[in-house]
Amino acid sequence: VINHQSEVCCNLYVGVEFIKDKWSMLVARNQYERRGSDVTMQCGSLESDASVSWKVNGTDIEAQHQLNGPKLILTQVDLDHNGLYSCFQNPHGERRDTILLHIGIPPQEPKVTCRSNTYPKGFYCSWHLTHPTYIPSSFEVDVQ
Ligand SMILES: *[C@@H]1O[C@H](CO)[C@@H](O)[C@H](O)[C@H]1NC(C)=O
Repeated sequence: VINHQSEVCCNLYVGVEFIKDKWSMLVARNQYERRGSDVTMQCGSLESDASVSWKVNGTDIEAQHQLNGPKLILTQVDLDHNGLYSCFQNPHGERRDTILLHIGIPPQEPKVTCRSNTYPKGFYCSWHLTHPTYIPSSFEVDVQ
């Protein structure tokens, strides 16, 4: 019997965590998003009337991406949208935020296989994923 907790298993939470450099200054934060979704990245805490420019991996963002004040909107993201996004406030170009975007796929229920040579004294189980999630994922697998 596999005690699967499907609510826990198959949701993808949007998480934000922070990466600090060795001087403990904030250099980038992680943003995790689901593949195929529309993603909004907010440039720091700038007000909605602020004007900003964005770069990804150090190059200017293509015009096809939607810009909405301090927000960058990417539609139907795929794995190739991964990257380091930075925003710069106009007109002077001070950097206001740096976001490491990670696109992932919600985890599916792990496949569990068990066998025993000494039943009922002991058994051995292993599990694997049929599809990668591309982002850090943790699983809780209970076998009874
Ligand atoms: C940014 O660079 C990474 C690693 O080289 C690459 O996989 C990714 O596709 C790049 N992102 C964009 C949006 O060009």
